[in-house]
Amino acid sequence: MQLAHWRHENAEAEQTLQLAYSFPLINTRDVFAPDNPALLQALCRREPDKRQRLAIFLDSGVAQAMPELCARIQAYAQRHAQHMEIIGDIIITPGGEACKNDVQQLWRLLDALAERRIDRHSYALAIGGGAVLDAVGLAASLFHRGVRHIRLPATVLAQADSGVGVKNAINWNGQKNLLGSFAPPWAVINDSCFIDSLPPREKRAGMAEAVKVALIRDALFFHWLEAQAAHLARFEPCAMSALIERSAHLHLHQITHGGDPFEHGSARPLDYGHWIAHKLERLSRHALSHGEAVALGLVLDARYAVQCGLLAAGEEVRIWRLLRQLGFSLWHAQLAACDAQGRLCLLQGLEEFREHLGGSLCITLLRGIGQACEVDQIDAQQVLHALHWLARQEGQDEQALPALNGVAERRLAS
Ligand SMILES: NC(=O)c1ccc[n+]([C@@H]2O[C@H](COP(=O)([O-])OP(=O)(O)OC[C@H]3O[C@@H](n4cnc5c(N)ncnc54)[C@H](O)[C@@H]3O)[C@@H](O)[C@H]2O)c1
Ligand SMILES: [Zn+2]
Repeated sequence: MQLAHWRHENAEAEQTLQLAYSFPLINTRDVFAPDNPALLQALCRREPDKRQRLAIFLDSGVAQAMPELCARIQAYAQRHAQHMEIIGDIIITPGGEACKNDVQQLWRLLDALAERRIDRHSYALAIGGGAVLDAVGLAASLFHRGVRHIRLPATVLAQADSGVGVKNAINWNGQKNLLGSFAPPWAVINDSCFIDSLPPREKRAGMAEAVKVALIRDALFFHWLEAQAAHLARFEPCAMSALIERSAHLHLHQITHGGDPFEHGSARPLDYGHWIAHKLERLSRHALSHGEAVALGLVLDARYAVQCGLLAAGEEVRIWRLLRQLGFSLWHAQLAACDAQGRLCLLQGLEEFREHLGGSLCITLLRGIGQACEVDQIDAQQVLHALHWLARQEGQDEQALPALNGVAERRLAS
């Protein structure tokens, strides 16, 4: 009788667990200036009177570009010794994909946390590009099932996009971001000083993600980007800071208000232009950086949407023109690469993207500047048409591409 009663209860026992996360995004300049309060605010936001312990991981590229940084961090910690203590040396972590490609690197990061006896009430602080933040974020989310992680993104891309989000990952088995976790950071501090030391190519690449988020969410921001294009192309600090701030805000808004922060569904609006970008990065053997490949994905998917009748003709030209003005090169030989059967290699990116989403194919397209929509199929011939269009725009030889087989550009939607 008793047992039957338990069984009945268990059968209906679907449990609901609701978690609320909150973390600050602090914009500042020169975070390690002696009296800058930003880091202390982040460290002490829950326990104002405790001396906080932290392990610091520093991107080797940042360390090289800012040789005085380690000493300045140590001086800052000494000045605020009442509130913070750096445990052990600052850990210099290989910058760029190197830190995500080698799984041994993850063990090194975990070893560093273990040696320093970092616990759930102490911190793993990472300063670096998106790659170092991804790897340290993953280690921090694994260690003790998750220790507090503070991010100081050091590239335009990381400040405007990846560093303010909730995802961490390394590459494994030849696949990008295959081992990863969703783990919101404890705090993010965007310091514009880091952007000053970035090479021009890195500064430009990050702007593609700002254009992307404007295209899917904010027509006014897109107009602003058009109006500021000349200043942005010269990387003028004022314009760059405004771009980063707006882009970070829009990315965060999508994550916090988009209804699917941990990506359980198939729609991934922030991945607009990315099915092409992911494939092209690999086809180019990473000669194209992520941002450079995204720029190509944005313009090709915009042209595709025009051909489908989703987007008004001429809007794709505006997108192409803006990206050109920002200094992106909008052609790459691998766009025309074909397999042994003569099929465009790029199109394999669709199936790979579906796998990456984990459900059915869901591609974000534009129905206006600032307005995204989703489709569940992509027409191969129309992709080819879009490539021919881009080749013409860029003065490239269309003959390098497979022929169009006489299929006309077609309007798929009303
Ligand atoms: N987690 C996410 O949501 C998410 C989103 C988008 C991209 N990503 C990841 O971000 C990574 C790309 O990040 P990225 O574009 O920031 O590049 P990156 O991290 O690869 O850094 C590029 C290069 O710049 C150097 N560098 C970084 N900051 C510098 C500075 N201030 N001065 C001088 N050199 C500096 C690095 O050492 C590296 O050599 C990819 O691995 C991508 O998968 C993650
Ligand atoms: Zn991206």
